[in-house]
Amino acid sequence: MSKKNTTFVQFFYYSITMKRIYFLLALVLITASCGRRLEISSPDKDITVAFRLSEKGTPEYCALHNLDTVINWSELGLVCDSLDLSQGFEKKGKQIVRSHSKWETVWGEEHFIVDNYRELTVFLRHESGIRMNIALRAYNDGFAVRYIFPEQPSRPLTITDEKTEYRFMADHQAWSIPWRTEYYEGLWTKDPLSLKTDTLCSPVTLELSNGGYAFVHEAALYDYPAQNLYMQDGALKTYLTPWLQDGQVTDTKAYETIPFATPWRMVIWADDLPELVASRIMLNLNEPCRIEDTSWIQPMKFIGIWWGMHMKSMTWERGPKHGATTTNMERYLRFAHDHHINAVLAEGWNKGWEDWKHFSFTEPYPDWDMGYLSRLADSLNVQIIGHNETGGNAADYEAVLDETYTYHQAHDIHAIKTGYVAPIIRTKDGLQFNKGQSGVRHYRQVIETAAKYQIAIDNHEPVMPTGLQRTYPNLMTQEGVRGQEWNAWSADGGNPCSHVTTLPFTRILAGPVDFTPGVFAFENPVMPTTRVHATLMNQLGLFVCFYSPLQMACDLPENYEKHLDAFRFIEDVPCDWERSLLVAGQIGEFCIFARQQRNADNWYIGGINNEVSRDAEVALSMLEKGKQYRAVVYRDGETADWQTNPYDYVIEEQTLSSKDTLHIHMASGGGFAVQLKQQD
Ligand code: NOJ
Repeated sequence: MSKKNTTFVQFFYYSITMKRIYFLLALVLITASCGRRLEISSPDKDITVAFRLSEKGTPEYCALHNLDTVINWSELGLVCDSLDLSQGFEKKGKQIVRSHSKWETVWGEEHFIVDNYRELTVFLRHESGIRMNIALRAYNDGFAVRYIFPEQPSRPLTITDEKTEYRFMADHQAWSIPWRTEYYEGLWTKDPLSLKTDTLCSPVTLELSNGGYAFVHEAALYDYPAQNLYMQDGALKTYLTPWLQDGQVTDTKAYETIPFATPWRMVIWADDLPELVASRIMLNLNEPCRIEDTSWIQPMKFIGIWWGMHMKSMTWERGPKHGATTTNMERYLRFAHDHHINAVLAEGWNKGWEDWKHFSFTEPYPDWDMGYLSRLADSLNVQIIGHNETGGNAADYEAVLDETYTYHQAHDIHAIKTGYVAPIIRTKDGLQFNKGQSGVRHYRQVIETAAKYQIAIDNHEPVMPTGLQRTYPNLMTQEGVRGQEWNAWSADGGNPCSHVTTLPFTRILAGPVDFTPGVFAFENPVMPTTRVHATLMNQLGLFVCFYSPLQMACDLPENYEKHLDAFRFIEDVPCDWERSLLVAGQIGEFCIFARQQRNADNWYIGGINNEVSRDAEVALSMLEKGKQYRAVVYRDGETADWQTNPYDYVIEEQTLSSKDTLHIHMASGGGFAVQLKQQD
């Protein structure tokens, strides 16, 4: 449909008084022009996804929400080097499945997740003889589509394009980062879809013209390139991350062999932000857990020999300021033990930091006594988190995975932060995008191998999460975000306050984030014009607002020692939840989350704010009725302000119940944190 027609249709559909009549008329027109359509509706009937074949045999779908068409007829299909699988299909049959189940998470924002959907699978035969099925799932809060090549004579397919598109009925506002944003470490920007001229990374969050929200992403990315999106002819279209040849982009996107299935293309459709963040479609679209014994996978808070390097008071490599020494680590381990922090990360413990290219993952620098530190950690009941920076050399890392994990396991290390600092990584297929098919395969191999050695992964410079943690819960957290470290050295002054209030509705909807909250010292002697744009209370609020089952408190122990009263919240706050809900928020402005501790009746509430100070009201209706809670409220003081006085805070204790409402002032760049412990 041309842009002109889209505008006409927009007007047509959104005319308020005549809306229903116009809708019925439009439905007749759509139905008449599409021949026989098949459709599937969500269990509550709010979402309908319809399927048809065009005259050319092109698969198409459209989506309706509460009887309004929200995505007009949109193409589906794949293009291969010698075969066009986007037309020339005939329908051979269909199958409808209803499914309603509940599963228990190993860790997460929710203890139990309901998976309730209706699925329509359309069986297609291509003129070449190839059979391809299209599965369309309708959930109460969105829908998903995927291509499945069932059992049939096996043959290789070289995919050069995927035709999946989203022909939205209005020019919604879209939050996104450009697809070549290095490591996904960019600031999210909002524009109408029609003005998005770049190709965009997946996901994209939409503020809908009717006040609702949508989230376009993918789920279950196993052996396929990551999806990117771009606007063309009024539709959001798919651009698969290409393979590179000698560092140059090629036409090839994926090498597959029939039978196989692509990742799911997924759209969450929500009336408001609480519904958007509560959607668990992406996890539901992933396969159940493949790790039999998950008892060793433990959510943990950790500190680390880390911020010192980014603030340049320490170095990764050996020298007078070397951070990862036995003496320093001993100090960190003891601090963790004294303050109920589960683990300590150490970066720069191993040989190779002189050139960031030739790392060893089994040879410590001479000033690091791994045997002694591992025994000490054990005696203190604190875990060591290993660090494997590869410098982007994925192929070399793959070659030593088994010996690396054997070494770590022998030293009782059950979590490793991996790193790939290089805009293009070197896989066994040569230089490739990390989110291309080769990179995706590498990350999966790391996760699967680590699981065999009972090692959890915190993947930095990753491919964007797609819910794989359901299948491999040892993939605990990932970077893929412009994180706290940018506040140490970014030439633009650091992350603006509105960055953190955007992330819960954009990047973090894709999965847990290793943002590394918890800066308590705001001076930056090396780059005085760069700093954390936050008050100390904002840093506490992040521990509730940003979900990660491996959650780092990133500052130095000596900085925490200056504010132990505030650090108490970090000691207490869990990183594994029974239930989570967004109390209030506006993308880029503020957000307030409430989360119930897993297997306990305690609640934690966190708020973070952008530059504009505001007063928040939090009704405590989520608390168990009739029970009293001992509350500790950590809030910005009267003069708090991220620029002029980030250290002004107040800590108050009170007794509260579900009938109470908290009234809390959030300073510019401010925030708050509340602990609510149920009384007997
Ligand atoms: C970039 C990562 O984001 C950071 O956390 C790490 O310290 C450095 N790479 C070194 O691996």
